[in-house]
Amino acid sequence: MRKSYIIVIGIAAGIFFLTGPACSADEGGDPFKGGLVWSNWTNAVAGGSGYPKGYDSSKKDFLRCKACHGWDGLGAKGGYVRRSAKDSRPNPSTGTDLSAKFGSITSEDVLHSEKGRKFNTFSLAMPAFGQKGGLTKQQVKDVVAFLNKGPKIGEFATLDISSKPVSYTFNKPDLEAGENLYKANCANCHNEDGDGADMSLKKYFGKDGKYSEGFHKAVYGAGGKSEMTRKESGNLTGKQASDILTYIQANF
Ligand code: HEC
Ligand code: HEC
Repeated sequence: MRKSYIIVIGIAAGIFFLTGPACSADEGGDPFKGGLVWSNWTNAVAGGSGYPKGYDSSKKDFLRCKACHGWDGLGAKGGYVRRSAKDSRPNPSTGTDLSAKFGSITSEDVLHSEKGRKFNTFSLAMPAFGQKGGLTKQQVKDVVAFLNKGPKIGEFATLDISSKPVSYTFNKPDLEAGENLYKANCANCHNEDGDGADMSLKKYFGKDGKYSEGFHKAVYGAGGKSEMTRKESGNLTGKQASDILTYIQANF
C-alpha cells in the first residue's frame, strides 16, 4: 500500500517538474496586448512609442511580427502562403511557421539577441528586438503570452493553402451562435449585411488568406488608431470569433 502511494507521489512530482518550466514560459504577460504587439509593436495601443530613432517608416513591415510570421503565426504555411516580398516589406517563409513552438516560447526567443539583425538592415532575418528603440520588457512578456496562449485561427480551423484563395474549414461550427454574436458585436458598425464601416466584409474575406487576418482583428482589435478595438467587438474568445467567421463565410 505505502509503496504505491510513494510511486504515485513520485510520478506527480515528475510531471510537475516536467511541466513547470513550460508554464513559467508565460512570464506574466497579457496575451491580448500581445496580439497588438504582434500587429505593430511601435503603436501606442500596443504599448509602443513610435519607430526607433531615425527609422524609415515606409519600411515598417520589416519590424512587424505579422509580416514575417503571418497573422496566424504559420509563416508561409498559413494565410500568407502567396505573400510576395517588395522593397517595402519582407515575405514569410516556411521557416517562420512558429506553430510547433506555441506553448514553449520564451523571452529569449523573442529578443533573438545573438542572431538578430540591426533594425536598419532590411533583410528577411528577424531583428534583435532588445536593441535600442526596440521592444519594452512588458511588450516582450505580452507577445510571449500571445504566442503561447493567445487564440489563433489554426486551433479553430483547418487551412488548405494549396487552394486559392486559402480555404478555411471551421472545426466545430455553430452558425446560430455566430449569427447572434455577429449581430451583437459587429453589426452596429458593419451593418447586418456586412456593408458598413466604409467597406464590404464580403469583398474583404474573398481575398486570399484574409480569414487569418480577420480572425486576429476580431479577437485582438484592428490595432493602430482604429475604433475597432477588442473591447468594442465584445472581448471575444477564439471560439466566438471562429463562429462569427463561420457565419460570415456562410452568409455574405
Ligand atoms: C523580417 C522578418 C521577421 C520579423 C519582422 C520577425 N521575425 Fe521572428 N523570425 C524570423 C525568422 C526568419 C525566424 C527563424 C529563425 C531565424 O532565422 O533566426 C524567426 C524566428 C522567431 C521565433 C523562434 C525563435 C527561436 O529561437 O526558436 C520567434 C519566437 C519569433 N521569431 C518571434 C517574433 C516576434 C514576436 C516578432 C515581432 C516582435 C518577430 N518574430 C518578428 C523572421 C522575423
Ligand atoms: C466600433 C465599430 C466596429 C465594431 C464593433 C467592429 N468593427 Fe470591424 N471595422 C470597423 C472599422 C471602422 C473598420 C475599417 C478599418 C479600421 O478602422 O481598421 C473595420 C474593419 C474591419 C475588418 C477589416 C480590417 C482591415 O484591416 O481592413 C474586418 C475583417 C472587421 N472589421 C471585422 C469585424 C468583426 C468580425 C467584428 C465583430 C466581431 C467587427 N469588425 C466589429 C469598425 C468596427
